[in-house]
Amino acid sequence: EIEANIRPRTLEDYIGQKKVKENLKVFIQAAKNRKEALDHVLLYGPPGLGKTTLANIIANEMQVNIKITSGPAIEKPGDMAAILNNLNEGDLLFIDEVHRLNRHVEEILYPAMEDFTIDIVIGKGPGARSIRLDLPKFTLIGATTRAGLLTAPLRDRFGVIQRLEYYNTDELTKIVARSAKVLGIKITAAGAEEIARRSRGTPRIANRLLKRVRDFAEVKYEGYIDELVASAALESLEIDQMGLDRIDRKMLLAMIEKFGGGPVGIDTLAAAIGEENDTIEDVYEPFLIQLGLINRTPRGRVVTALGYKHFGIEPLQTEK
Ligand code: ADE
Repeated sequence: EIEANIRPRTLEDYIGQKKVKENLKVFIQAAKNRKEALDHVLLYGPPGLGKTTLANIIANEMQVNIKITSGPAIEKPGDMAAILNNLNEGDLLFIDEVHRLNRHVEEILYPAMEDFTIDIVIGKGPGARSIRLDLPKFTLIGATTRAGLLTAPLRDRFGVIQRLEYYNTDELTKIVARSAKVLGIKITAAGAEEIARRSRGTPRIANRLLKRVRDFAEVKYEGYIDELVASAALESLEIDQMGLDRIDRKMLLAMIEKFGGGPVGIDTLAAAIGEENDTIEDVYEPFLIQLGLINRTPRGRVVTALGYKHFGIEPLQTEK
């Protein structure tokens, strides 16, 4: 599959997240030297920054198998027990959206992570008994958009906790150039930078925009991407100069026009723009905060002076 090829397979080829990479490199080397499984790893941060990619890289660097699943996909404790019991020594189990495991499923994980055992109940009622099964030593890699969404007992069982940050333009430019090369897309340095600048600090978005800009380049231009082609295509895609999309702008404008710039609560805001709370909290809000266009206060979200300026609107009052 072509798609799979644009994902880096080694830490060496993984661009950005310098600190995370440096740390993981040490933990991987140490575990390999001791011939042990890597300690359990929690990766958190906004969607699209490469948590799944990193999990695959860790498996590759550790030279072990990876089994990929997600919190909502594991419905019953028995499903979790079966997954764990089918792992081989040293294997990696990647659980995306690990904060969405239900409580009963999560409880299976506690002894599994800590002692590599599971307790399974046989039978029902007065005759029921519990037996303990030994598991192979495995590594759990959990991914979540926000570490604060995890229960404390689960969070405490991860020996390695790493937060992924938004990428800067320089890093994203390298990622766009690398992806273009893999996909055989002709692009200039300035074209790559223009896409990078407007990709919300997110490789998944940069790679998606690269493909859409290529469509414009092939149909409406000369088949290659330069700064002008990228800029015109992104304009057509309604991605503005700061990389805001229609929903970012809708949210900011709703805050300004319907709620006097805030403070406004998340539920009220979600209802006003017809988006899910979670999407706003995981995707839109962190990026707008990062850009300094909104702030969180104890009473809700507020638009900053810079947020007003983005639309050329004068704030009504001084900031609260
Ligand atoms: N593709 C997606 N994320 C990447 C990264 N961090 N480095 C290189 N290529 C990527």
